Amino acid sequence: MTSPSGTGRLPRGRTPGSTYRIAVVCLGNICRSPIAEVVLTDKLARAGLDGHVEVVSAGTGPWHVGEPMDRRAAALLTAHGYDATAHRGQQFDATWFAECDLILAMDTSNHADITDQLEGADEGRVRMFRDFDPRAGDGDRDVPDPYFGGDEGFETVLAMVDRTAAAVVEMLERELNGG
Ligand code: 4NP
Repeated sequence: MTSPSGTGRLPRGRTPGSTYRIAVVCLGNICRSPIAEVVLTDKLARAGLDGHVEVVSAGTGPWHVGEPMDRRAAALLTAHGYDATAHRGQQFDATWFAECDLILAMDTSNHADITDQLEGADEGRVRMFRDFDPRAGDGDRDVPDPYFGGDEGFETVLAMVDRTAAAVVEMLERELNGG
């Protein structure tokens, strides 16, 4: 049994000088992790880190492989000026450990589903997305799944993702500049 780790430095890149690859992972890869991928990618570009850091996303479940994101997630992102059209669902599997420097789980259950597949891979690369949320309290590390709820759940996810992605980008700026 492994439990989500606390805050601290980001894992070192696997290959110095190469693109640092972050995977954001939820259950279905149509709501939370696509929102996080789009917002994080946008903030990285604004910080001039595109080309140095790449973001991908996946779900631990198989149901939405190849599909665009949930229409409610896409509508909310579009209303906030983002392009939500490129997303196609992917499923996480153990091969991602070799391809990613940092894997960010959107909730505790996703974290467990990821670490169950470690098979000797470095657990330090798997963190909770909200480990980096400046407003997360003790024991409050989940981005709540909005799939079975109403539109307000998606607004909550976007607000959490927005402030957490900003903190992740700040940390990456420091770490990639050797800070
Ligand atoms: P997500 O939400 O994990 O944020 O993408 C879900 C999407 C689909 C399902 C569950 C959660 N589903 O059971 O199909």
